[in-house]
Amino acid sequence: MIRKCLFPAAGYGTRFLPATKVLPKEMLPVCTKPLIQYGVEEAMEASIYMLAVVTGRGKYTLENHFDISYELEHQIKGTIKEKRLADIRRIIDRCEFIYVRQHEMKGLGHAVLTGESLIGAEPFAVVLADDLCFGEGEGVLSQMKAVFSKKRQSIVAVMDVPQSEISSYGIVLGEEIGDNLVRVNRMIEKPASGSTDSTLAVIGRYILTEDIFAILKHIKPGSGGEIQLTDALNVQAEKGGVLAYRFKGTRYDCGSLHGFVEATNAVYRMLSNAPDNQFSI
Ligand code: UTP
Repeated sequence: MIRKCLFPAAGYGTRFLPATKVLPKEMLPVCTKPLIQYGVEEAMEASIYMLAVVTGRGKYTLENHFDISYELEHQIKGTIKEKRLADIRRIIDRCEFIYVRQHEMKGLGHAVLTGESLIGAEPFAVVLADDLCFGEGEGVLSQMKAVFSKKRQSIVAVMDVPQSEISSYGIVLGEEIGDNLVRVNRMIEKPASGSTDSTLAVIGRYILTEDIFAILKHIKPGSGGEIQLTDALNVQAEKGGVLAYRFKGTRYDCGSLHGFVEATNAVYRMLSNAPDNQFSI
C-alpha cells in the first residue's frame, strides 16, 4: 500500500559548511553510517523497498554508497572486517534505488514535486534524512504506515517543542482526536516565537496522498522564493485531509550541529553497548 519512499536530499546543507561543500549533508557520517542510511533502514523496517532520491550536487557519492564496491569487497573478503559491510550489502540486495536531480533548490515542496516521475499515482512516504529517528518498539515510518492503513489520509509526524523553538518548524494547529492523532486545521511555516500557542512541530517524516503533486503544481513560491510543502499540505488540510501523528520515539535534528553531535553520542552509546560491539573490531 505504501511501496515507495522519497528522500529529498538536494539541499545545500549550509549549516555544515565547509564540510558540505562537496559532500551532501545526507552523506555526513553519524558514527559509522551516513545519515541517509539510517533513513533507508527505517524505510526497510517499514517494508518499503523502492527508494526514490532527489539529489542535487554531489549526486555520485550517494549513488555510489548504495551500490556494490567490488574492489573493496574483494579486499576484505574473508576478514573480520567483512561484517562492517553487512548492513549496506543487505540494503543493496533488497532495495531498488532511483534518482532524479533537482536542478534548482526551490524548496522542499519543489523537491517533492521533482520526485513525481519516480513515485507516480500512489501514496508514498517521505523521509528527510537529516532528522534521525529511533522509534520506540517499531520505527517511526512503520508507526505512520499503520495509521495510514486505517485513515488513508496524508500524515505528518509531529512532536512538542519548546515555545522558543517554534520559529524553526512547521507548526500544526488542530484538534486532538485520540490515538496520538491530531486533525490538522492549518499549518504555519516557521511562525514567530509567541505568535501561536501551539508547539506541535512537524518533523521530517510524512506519508502523502498522491493528490499532493497536483496541488504542488499550483503553489506559488513563498518565503525565500521556495515552494513550501506546508502550503500544499494546507490545501489538503482545508478539505480535512491531513492528520498529525505524535510518534513514539526519539528524533535528532541532524540538520543542526547540536542535534548532529547529540545523535552521534547516542549512536556511539548504542554501538558500544551492542553485543557485537563494532568498535572492538
Ligand atoms: P533544509 O532546509 O533543512 O536543508 O531542508 P538544507 O537547505 O540543505 O540545510 P541548510 O539550512 O542550508 O543547512 C530539509 C530537507 O529538504 C531537502 C534537504 O536536502 C533536506 O533533506 N531539500 C531542501 C531539497 O531536497 N531541496 C530543496 O530545494 C530544499
